[in-house]
This record gives sequence, C-alpha cells and structure tokens, in this order.
Amino acid sequence: MSFIYTPENQKKADAYIKQYPKGRQASAVLPLLDLAQRQSGGWLPQPVLEAVAEMLDMPFIKVLEVASFYTMFNLKPVGTYHLQICGTTPCWLKGAEDLKKACEHHLKIKTGETTKDQKFTLSEVECLGACINAPVMQINDDYYENLSEASVAELLKNLPSKGSSNA
Ligand code: FES
Repeated sequence: MSFIYTPENQKKADAYIKQYPKGRQASAVLPLLDLAQRQSGGWLPQPVLEAVAEMLDMPFIKVLEVASFYTMFNLKPVGTYHLQICGTTPCWLKGAEDLKKACEHHLKIKTGETTKDQKFTLSEVECLGACINAPVMQINDDYYENLSEASVAELLKNLPSKGSSNA
C-alpha cells in the first residue's frame, strides 16, 4: 500500500510547506500528518508516515517520533467515534476517573480499546486545554465540557449512529 494525497489535500499540503523557508519544510509535519490522518480514516498507517517523510525530506524515524508523541495522531485504527478523556490533574480532580468508568461500563470496553463494531474507541489523553470547564472529553473534533457520569451516558446514547468521522 502506498499513500498519496487527494488533489485537494495535495494543494493544502503544498500551501503548508510554502509557509516555511526553503530547507525548513519539516516544520510543516504537524499539519501534513493531520491532513493525512483525516484522509486515511482517522489513523496513520506506516506507508502514510513514509509518504509524509519523503515529501518533507525527513528521516522516517523523525516523522514517527512526532506521530507517536502527540495523542492527536493515531498509529492504529480508531472507531467512528474516538472518545478522548482528559486525565490530567484538573480533570482528574473533577471526576475524570468516574467519566472513564462510565464510558467503559456503557461501551463494555477498557480504556485503550475499540468496540467490536468499530464504532467507539476510548482513550485517555493529557490536558486538552479546556481545564476551566473540567472534566473534559473530546469526541472526534468536538469538545464536551463540565461532564458528569449522567451527562456522559446521555451523550453516548445520543450520538448519531453514523458518526461525524475524523476524516
Ligand atoms: S486538565 Fe483537562 S482539559 Fe486541562
């Protein structure tokens, strides 16, 4: 399997690269990985990382380092809905553990797993930058704040069956 951007995404990738001086194109690695992940169904298979590395003239290992450092990048497939619960101190103090347990109970999976129907993946992540409204959960591109066990159960029940997808 090899990876190429769609023509539309290639244009966007070129525009990102152009924002940096010649020889500094590696600075565009984050937006290029984000574009690639959206195109690839929400995760980054190795050929995608290789293609980004080649495009930016970077060693593959450097691209892998970036992709494995940030939790916004997924190195294995995720469900239609990727639930990311913030587990950092302010959210933890405001009940993130209870949210996690509620999600695990409702979805019948452990944190780090995907449901058998591939609909939900549950992850714990570091600070999502919305601490003032802790506890916080991100589902695909959307933030849900000031959550409780009851509101999270309601939220999961009301997600549309098709999903808004990471793509
Ligand atoms: S600690 Fe949870 S959003 Fe910052």
